Formats: sequence, structure tokens, C-alpha cells
Amino acid sequence: RAFTEEQEALVLKSWNSMKKNAAELGLKVFLRVFEIAPSAKKLFSFLRDSDVPLEQNPKLKAHAMTVFVMTCESAVQLHKVGKPSVRESNLKDLGTTHFQYNVVAEHFEVVKFALLEIIKEAVPEMWSPEMKSAWGEAYDQLAAAIKSEMKPQV
Ligand code: HEM
Repeated sequence: RAFTEEQEALVLKSWNSMKKNAAELGLKVFLRVFEIAPSAKKLFSFLRDSDVPLEQNPKLKAHAMTVFVMTCESAVQLHKVGKPSVRESNLKDLGTTHFQYNVVAEHFEVVKFALLEIIKEAVPEMWSPEMKSAWGEAYDQLAAAIKSEMKPQV
């Protein structure tokens, strides 16, 4: 199913109003993830080795922000070229890293759930079933692209 211009517009419209807070919102996504799945904290080396409180961890913020930004970029590329924006080589690295750190399909599902919740809370006046499915699809396609590269490096 094609990712339509309308879906791209819904993602971009909400992104425009969230991007100034993207770091904070991204962090909220992962704090929600850890509420739902506390064991997911153990995946992140920089959380295991750190004395800094979770909410102040710069690397957690950076990862959270990346997930947010890449999902948004994925929406644009999905409409333009029919697949997520990640270059082949980056995709391989992303797949390898997530594989090595024992990320599994369920983790991608929890992050999706939390991401959609936080967007809904951030832009309640814009939120709609259409917006939810546009973000959801952009995320799913990006996650699928990463998962397809999740195998040991040869
Ligand atoms: C690392 C992006 C989903 C856990 C990374 C890196 C990027 C990234 C860019 C750094 C890559 C590198 O160092 O080679 C994304 C994107 C996602 C996603 C775009 C979804 C669309 C997830 C999920 C989890 C996760 C669902 C687990 C809940 C991790 C872990 C690392 C990582 C554990 C390694 C962190 C460390 O250095 O300790 N991710 N990620 N990611 N990601 Fe993700």
C-alpha cells in the first residue's frame, strides 16, 4: 500500500510542531518504554555503565531523538520513493548494531506503542486516527528495514 501525500503531510505537520521539543519528547518515549518493559534498560550499554539518572543520560536522549527524526524522514521518503530513507550501508550497520545488542521484534513494538502515545500527548489538537496510522506506518516500514538487516556480520 502506497504512503500517500496526505499521510506524509500529517507526519510533517505534527513534526513541525514537535521538533523544537524533539529531544524531550524522544526521552519521554523511552521513559515510557522502560515503564512498560523495564528489562529493556539492560540493552543499552550506556545505561548499564552509568551513574547519571536515566532522564539526564545524553546518549539515551540522542538515541531517542534519532528514532524520532528517522521515523519522520522515513515518512517523507516513503511517499517520494516508496521506501524508508536509510541508505543501504547505514541500514546494514543499524541492523548489525541492534542484532548485537539483542534487540528483538517485541522491543520495536513497545517503542512504536510509546512513540504513538507520546505524539498523541504532544499534539492532542491535531491527533486523529489518520495521523496515528501515518506515523505508525512510517515507523513500521523503518523498523522492518532495520529488522531485515538484523543478522550477524559476516
Ligand atoms: C543503537 C536507531 C529502535 C535499542 C542505535 C543507533 C541508532 C539507532 C542510529 C546507533 C547505531 C550504532 O552505533 O551503530 C534506531 C532507530 C530505531 C531504533 C531508527 C527504530 C526505528 C530501537 C529499539 C531498541 C533499540 C526498538 C530497543 C528497545 C538500541 C540499542 C543500541 C541502539 C541497545 C546500542 C546502544 C549502545 O551503544 O549501548 N539505534 N533504533 N533501538 N539501539 Fe536503536
